[in-house]
Amino acid sequence: LRTAIGIDVGGTKIAGAVVTGRGDLVEARHVATPAHADAEQTVAVLAAMAGDLTARYPDVETIGVGAPGMVTWPTGHIASAPNNAYRDLALKDRLAEATGLPVVVDNDANAAAWAEKRFGRGVGHRDVVVLTVGTGIGGGVIVNGDLFRGATGLGGEVGHTIINPGGGNRCGCGAFGCLETEASGTALRRLGREAAARNPDGAIARLAVGGEVTGEIVTRAAKDGDPTARTLFEELGTWLGLGIASIVNNFEPEIVILGGGLVDVGELLLAPAQAAYQRHVVGRDVRRLPPLVPAALGPEAGVIGAAALALDELKPVAPVP
Ligand code: BGC
Ligand code: NA
Ligand code: ZN
Repeated sequence: LRTAIGIDVGGTKIAGAVVTGRGDLVEARHVATPAHADAEQTVAVLAAMAGDLTARYPDVETIGVGAPGMVTWPTGHIASAPNNAYRDLALKDRLAEATGLPVVVDNDANAAAWAEKRFGRGVGHRDVVVLTVGTGIGGGVIVNGDLFRGATGLGGEVGHTIINPGGGNRCGCGAFGCLETEASGTALRRLGREAAARNPDGAIARLAVGGEVTGEIVTRAAKDGDPTARTLFEELGTWLGLGIASIVNNFEPEIVILGGGLVDVGELLLAPAQAAYQRHVVGRDVRRLPPLVPAALGPEAGVIGAAALALDELKPVAPVP
């Protein structure tokens, strides 16, 4: 069985794993993302992780990396990343040089989407959209069986679909009212903090006593039946549904898959998202509505997809005549 290393660079942690060609994890590890890491430090951390894994699994053929932000394709150059300090990093070349292995570098949500396409809910579909809803919102758009990347790899940034420019919040990208600022885990935390400040005796504030309001606290309050917390999920989910309607209007996928940490809350988010999506999609009376489903793969989607991308990109070795 072929194997590759998949690496998922996140805002708080960097995960790496040896993954088989069938998408199974052989061995996984992670390190904290170095705070204020510059390009050199990032290369060093990734090279150390890859070196460590290849020492234990010498048959590994290739390395795939998924990283948030503006990642060019196929050149694997990270121009900028909203949640990581490095800029202008020729990661593909640097990591290939450091490890002696072929390397691909793609956007993190593209990698997660590819994992769903190859091994998850996207199996059997040619046109698939995957949204990863976490700290930010990422997207992977699969058109006719292949990831859509745009002219230089910066396409498919559906999390920056601008849905609320007038009343929305400022995004890390500089715009106001991106899908990411209105419907991510970060948005949920902001809404929770505002609610707790408005009502210090409410369930959210009481659950957060001695600590900060987090998305988890808002989730707990909503699951306990707190009407305020439920309203916040309605709001978040409605924005998400508006974003999904716009994405479906553009691409008409066969299926829309929701991944990322926030999706674990289930119907709290899915129900209002589904309702808003259904209400706002164009041609709703005449079309077959692409189903909105939770991802099959969990937090490992990033490493699995990155490894799969690397193996799928690797040209098969020409047979010896
Ligand atoms: C970035 C995307 C990334 C997403 C999830 C967004 O802020 O622009 O590139 O895929 O966060 O990490
Ligand atoms: Na993407
Ligand atoms: Zn944005």
